[in-house]
Amino acid sequence: MQSPVALIPQLAAHIVAAGGKRLRPLLTLAAAKLAGYRGGQRHVALAACVEFIHTATLLHDDVVDESALRRGQASANALFGNKPSVLVGDFLFARAFQVMVEDGSLEVLRILAGASATIAEGEVLQLITQNDTATTEDQYLAVIEGKTAALFAAATEVGAIVADCGAARQVALRAYGHNLGVAFQLIDDALDYSAAQEALGKTVGDDFREGKITLPVLLAFQRGDDAERVFWRRTLEERDQAEEDLPKAIALMQKHAAFTDTVLRARQYGQVALDALDVFPDSAERRALAGIVEFCISRAR
Ligand code: IPE
Ligand code: IPE
Ligand code: MG
Ligand code: MG
Repeated sequence: MQSPVALIPQLAAHIVAAGGKRLRPLLTLAAAKLAGYRGGQRHVALAACVEFIHTATLLHDDVVDESALRRGQASANALFGNKPSVLVGDFLFARAFQVMVEDGSLEVLRILAGASATIAEGEVLQLITQNDTATTEDQYLAVIEGKTAALFAAATEVGAIVADCGAARQVALRAYGHNLGVAFQLIDDALDYSAAQEALGKTVGDDFREGKITLPVLLAFQRGDDAERVFWRRTLEERDQAEEDLPKAIALMQKHAAFTDTVLRARQYGQVALDALDVFPDSAERRALAGIVEFCISRAR
C-alpha cells in the first residue's frame, strides 16, 4: 500500500484496516497447503495479491453501486469521494500484478489476469441487466459467476499451482472455489434483503434501491401475480420507490419462499464444492475448506 502520494496509503488503509472476512486469501493459503505446498512463502504473497484484487473491486464496486457503508464503516467513496476511490482501486490492482511479476509464475499471472477481466465483465453484465425484470436466471448466474465466483476459483487454483499438484487436483480446487463463490454470492444476495445491517456491515436494501435483479427478486417476480409484478416493475425498472416499498418487497419474498429457495440453491452449490474436495484424503486443511462452505451458507441464519 506504500506510496509517496499520501492519499493512496490513507485511503487504502481505511478499507484494509476495516478487515472484512479475508475469505479469499484464506482460500489460497488453505488450498496451497491441501495441495501439498511446503516450505516456501509464495502462497502468502499470492494470497495478498488475491485480497488486493478483491479490495480494488470493492473500491470500484462501491462507486458503481453508490454504497455508503462497507465493512461496518463509511465507504471510501463516501469518505474520500468517487475519484480517489477509483484511482486507488487502480493502484491496488496494479500493485497486485507487480507482486505476481515478482513471484515469476506465468501460470499464476494467467489465472489472476483472467479472473480480473472476468470480474469486470460480470460487473458490466450486471450493469446492463439491472432494472430489467425480464432478466433470466441464466443471466443472473452468468453475472455472479463473473463478479464473484471467478476470484474464488482463481484464489484456490493459485494455491494448486504453487503446490504443483497436477492437473486433476488443480481442476478440483478450481471447481471447489467456483462453486463456493456462487454459493457465497447467492447468500450475499439473500442477505442484502434479510440481514441485520450491523451484522452485514453494508446497507441493507442497496440491491433493491439500485434495481439489481438477484435470485430472491427473480423468484418473487416469477411467482408473483399481476399486481405484484406491477409493484416489481415500478420499484425495480422505473426505480420509483417509497419508504414502505422495501419492507413490502421483503414480505413478498417471504410469501413466495424466495429466501428459503435462494439458500437452498446456495446449499446445492456448496455441496458441489464439497464433492470436489473428494480427490483429497482427509486432513486438517480439507476439513478447513469444508468448514468454509458451511460458514458461507450459515451467514444466512
Ligand atoms: C463482498 O465480498 C463482495 C461480494 C462478492 C459480495 P466479502 O463479503 O467477502 O467482503 P469482505 O472482504 O468480507 O468485506
Ligand atoms: C460485489 O458485488 C462484487 C465485486 C466487488 C466484484 P455486490 O455489489 O453484489 O457486493 P456488495 O453487496 O457491494 O458487497
Ligand atoms: Mg456493491
Ligand atoms: Mg455491485
